[in-house]
Amino acid sequence: MASSTRNHRCLLFCLLTTIMITSSYGQESEPTLLLKFRSSLENATSSSSLGNWNSLVPLCTGNNSNWNGLLCSNGKFYGLRLESMGLSGNLDVDTLSQLTNLLTISIMNNNFEGPFPNVKKIGGRLRGLFLSNNRFSGELPDDTFAGMKSIRRILMANNEFTGEIPTSLLGIPKLVELQIQNNKFNGTIPAFSQEDFKINAANNRLEGPIPSQLSSQSASSFAGNLEICGKPMPACATSKKKKKIPIVAIILASIGGLIILAIILFALFLVHKQRKKPTQYEKSSVKNLNEKPSVLREEKYTKSHHDKASKLYFVRRDREKFDLEDLLRAPAEVLGSGSFGSSYKADLPIGKPIVVRRFRQMSNMGKEDFHEHMRSLGKLSHPNVLPLVAFYYRREEKLLVTDFIDNGSLASHLHGVTRGLAYLYKELPTLTLPHGHLKSSNVLLDHKFEPLVADYALVPVINKDHAKQFMVAYKSPEYMQNERLTRKTDVWSLGILILELLTGR
Ligand SMILES: *[C@@H]1O[C@H](CO)[C@@H](O)[C@H](O)[C@H]1NC(C)=O
Ligand SMILES: *[C@@H]1O[C@H](CO)[C@@H](O)[C@H](O)[C@H]1NC(C)=O
Ligand SMILES: *[C@@H]1O[C@H](CO)[C@@H](O)[C@H](O)[C@H]1NC(C)=O
Repeated sequence: MASSTRNHRCLLFCLLTTIMITSSYGQESEPTLLLKFRSSLENATSSSSLGNWNSLVPLCTGNNSNWNGLLCSNGKFYGLRLESMGLSGNLDVDTLSQLTNLLTISIMNNNFEGPFPNVKKIGGRLRGLFLSNNRFSGELPDDTFAGMKSIRRILMANNEFTGEIPTSLLGIPKLVELQIQNNKFNGTIPAFSQEDFKINAANNRLEGPIPSQLSSQSASSFAGNLEICGKPMPACATSKKKKKIPIVAIILASIGGLIILAIILFALFLVHKQRKKPTQYEKSSVKNLNEKPSVLREEKYTKSHHDKASKLYFVRRDREKFDLEDLLRAPAEVLGSGSFGSSYKADLPIGKPIVVRRFRQMSNMGKEDFHEHMRSLGKLSHPNVLPLVAFYYRREEKLLVTDFIDNGSLASHLHGVTRGLAYLYKELPTLTLPHGHLKSSNVLLDHKFEPLVADYALVPVINKDHAKQFMVAYKSPEYMQNERLTRKTDVWSLGILILELLTGR
């Protein structure tokens, strides 16, 4: 009895307030429309989600909302931020379209499923649409975004969308960010040409060449697709083959066959010459490799000043030596293509696998200076700094060889990073930027998940313009504002890296 009375009272009360509100505004008011919108959602009335929505309470006070999940500015409602609330159901775009002040909608991290909502109906004023981390699926009609003139950011990562990327996205003039990673989009990437546009299309089923307008995007934005190629990913001609491509093919194709052929012949000639020496010498030199390996190398090194063809120089004494020829012949795998150039993993017949990084954007530093810098890097040794093993110098291109580290990039173990960084500061006191390019993808993890700082101390040898465009240090506030770099800049990069770890972004 008691409960039925209460129900009656509520019914009357709710009816009255609805009538009051409706009549005082003429049209349906914002609170009425929002409550109507809420009724299309499931799981929306719990206290942890939208349970406090109440038409007797004003939506906003100043910049604060009194209703959960509303965005307010100066007393006015302008957006919905319904994130991580366990919501599902049908997104009622018809009701949303009547909310004329609505500029942004986020329903990220919920349980929405079904086709992409028909957001076109909401109209040309919407600026942000955030649908990531749900279970939306199916193909997006090509005209999904037609007429959405004001939209700047569209996030729909981590869903199950299929089919091709709608070309109506190309017609959005102010689009600056599109996140579609971790879906099942297929086909090719349309030629986005908006200014300052950023895309993340990683982990889909995309294929074909990357449009040239997107060549300055980060390679990680295209990783994990089918057969995608062209800058910033490896060049297209070689990408048809399966994963294992002999490194000779990759390098030949991109540097021009003849030069390398000459080098191979030269290397062969050298190897041949060496083999002619008495076998006893060979045996003893192998046996003594651990004791006195440097003599041979040092000799070769000094001789090399007069050699025209470049070869591979080892800066470490504790590694199995190999020739450029071995390297070129070894089965290789494309690891990725960072902002400096591509990197490959090569399995040599002897020793552990190594990583070869190609740099084409180095400064015009002379050969002697380059050798000098590399030899000083070769002397560095610390458990949290990835050791340089060997290098190769040509005016047009440099290769840096390091060990292959099993566990990819950083996800944890921050302390090793700071110790590695502190070590670089101590050992390289004359460099303004002892690291210069510290970011989470440049911290590798070894088999014990010990972090190794990589890509350090390259500022002196990198082309300035390229460095400004890509290196983390040049994104620092002191550089952006005053074009100055200081010994504190790497510390700023470390701060960003820590933030990346905490936020997962
Ligand atoms: C609301 O925020 C804007 C900028 O975001 C600010 O200019 C304004 O002073 C704030 N108003 C109040 C009442 O806090
Ligand atoms: C409602 O939310 C709870 C907790 O957020 C979640 O476990 C449940 O699956 C949700 N129910 C539906 C139907 O989405
Ligand atoms: C993309 O996938 C859809 C199925 O979702 C298929 O019908 C279509 O042919 C595919 N397109 C390409 C270019 O592979």
